[in-house]
Amino acid sequence: MEILMKNLSRDDAHKVLTGAVVPRPIALVSTKSPENVHNLAPFSYFTAVSSSPAMILVSVADRNGQKKDTLRNIERHPEFVVNVVTEDMAVPVNNAAADYRPDISEFDEVGLTPVPAKTVDCMAVLESPVRLECRLHQIIPLASNHLVIGEVQLVYVQDDLYIPDYKINVEALRPLARICGPYYAKLGEFMTCKRTFDPGKVIS
Ligand SMILES: Cc1cc2nc3c(=O)[nH]c(=O)nc-3n(C[C@H](O)[C@H](O)[C@H](O)COP(=O)(O)O)c2cc1C
Repeated sequence: MEILMKNLSRDDAHKVLTGAVVPRPIALVSTKSPENVHNLAPFSYFTAVSSSPAMILVSVADRNGQKKDTLRNIERHPEFVVNVVTEDMAVPVNNAAADYRPDISEFDEVGLTPVPAKTVDCMAVLESPVRLECRLHQIIPLASNHLVIGEVQLVYVQDDLYIPDYKINVEALRPLARICGPYYAKLGEFMTCKRTFDPGKVIS
């Protein structure tokens, strides 16, 4: 099967892409509206894009030609938190993706606990053991999406997951991965891999 992407509807293209690019990490993004409503929504078009300065990217699609609450909030209050999602957060995180009205806080609806972030004026999610506090760096419109690039100001790591120096115990973290449709995944068995190469062929 060869699927020519430009002939597909947006929904069908989404199915192909989210089946091909797997597994994806999930950013549970918390934002604040000008009316002080604390918004939560999950995004799996998410990755780290720069280490120094530390930057992450979240791609927010339009919904029926309109901007989602997360994007509209960040445009007006350019601070947010990316809360890393663990296996036991699957149900509330999945529920946080419902199209709640902007005056409704998903924190209340899905039963996650708001806790003030340290460096940005926004709530983080208490249940998330790793939280990236971000200031907006840039918003780049891209087709029917907006790429939101945030500069990470502070990373909160739950004490029992922190390994000196600056490592996170990923096995104990148990991050939840996004597949597509109703599917999520847990990380499987860890493996290590040694790199073998001809020393004469690499940059010294
Ligand atoms: C696990 C998961 C990942 C998602 N990833 C994205 C994504 O990367 N981009 C996007 O626009 N919507 C994504 N969605 C859908 C949004 O979460 C959903 O549209 C949500 O209602 C947006 O909320 P908001 O209007 O409060 O910003 C995802 C949903 C789920 C359940």
